[in-house]
Amino acid sequence: MKDRILVTGGTGYIGSHTVVELQNAGYEVVIVDNLSNSSADVVDNIEAVSGIRPAFEKLDCLDFAGLDGVFAKYPGIKAIIHFAASKAVGESVQKPLLYYRNNLVSLINLLELMPKYNVQGIVFSSSCTVYGQPDKLPVTEEAPIKKAESPYGNTKQINEEIIRDTVASGAPVSAILLRYFNPIGAHPSALLGELPNGVPQNLVPYIVQTAIGIREKLSIFGDDYNTPDGTCIRDYINVVDLAKAHVVAIARILEKKQKEKVEVFNIGTGHGLSVLQLVHAFEKATGVKLNYQIAPRRAGDIEQVWADPALANKELGWKAETNIEDTLRSAWNWQLKLRERGIQ
Ligand code: UD1
Repeated sequence: MKDRILVTGGTGYIGSHTVVELQNAGYEVVIVDNLSNSSADVVDNIEAVSGIRPAFEKLDCLDFAGLDGVFAKYPGIKAIIHFAASKAVGESVQKPLLYYRNNLVSLINLLELMPKYNVQGIVFSSSCTVYGQPDKLPVTEEAPIKKAESPYGNTKQINEEIIRDTVASGAPVSAILLRYFNPIGAHPSALLGELPNGVPQNLVPYIVQTAIGIREKLSIFGDDYNTPDGTCIRDYINVVDLAKAHVVAIARILEKKQKEKVEVFNIGTGHGLSVLQLVHAFEKATGVKLNYQIAPRRAGDIEQVWADPALANKELGWKAETNIEDTLRSAWNWQLKLRERGIQ
């Protein structure tokens, strides 16, 4: 029998790509999602891409009894990948309690239910935001955690601590915390991708919406940073590559290959790109000229961060593979497909 994996937030951007890769690797997936930032037709698209329809339960992870019911309905869930979370940095500053409730209580509910249903482990979506502005680059997992810039970032830090404390208390579970850098791009089929609610806050969705004419021009937030061209530097990781990191993390838990009961891995390419470099890479990859202007800095932005992914390369045997042009083309093809489907 195939191992059964619960994926919370499985119809979301990273979740949907991960469900496809899990199914490709032979796992059976149960998705729980409240559809607050995605839609049920993503399940159809997952099926169109992978040829397999995952089980889907529309449910909020805040609903403890509902979650208990999902574990009872799908016996033998071996591990969880927990994506479901609120993720807009700016909104988290306006509505901190919403973010603390959604992001902390969802995880607590899962951790409470895991022993009851003999779930061995959990893979948690963490973020490079926990490093703040690192003192040394590229940043390794050993770098100190800096005070969070937003309630959103704080929920990632607190959730990492909740997991550590739970495992340290002797709970019969193990965990892998994946600290993502900046996930971008879409599935090569153009059937899955990122669908932002309203005006995009993240760079690549804003770029593709500008390129297709939904937005007039991209504002580049600051060109007076202490970087070679003055714009901020990030480590942009292809979403399918990122999804594959989850599959190897799950296998590591189930095959009991973990060296510690809680392990942390940076998931990035190891290369930093500035905002201007990314814009130019987009233009080169797609042949589309982008309208942009330099604007003031955005509050809370980190100047530069990129990963040292050596630990993930060595321990997980995982490496980012897709080049930036292919990744940006995939984001553009997804946007073109959305237009074709009359969505955006
Ligand atoms: C942010 C969060 C990160 C979170 C991620 C997902 C922080 C410090 N980081 O990443 O934790 O996981 O969002 O939502 O809060 N930019 C522009 N113009 C735009 C949009 C962005 O110039 O219209 C620039 C930003 O200044 C930044 C880069 O593009 O330098 C990437 O921005 P973005 O895609 O929003 O990601 P982060 O801020 O790195």
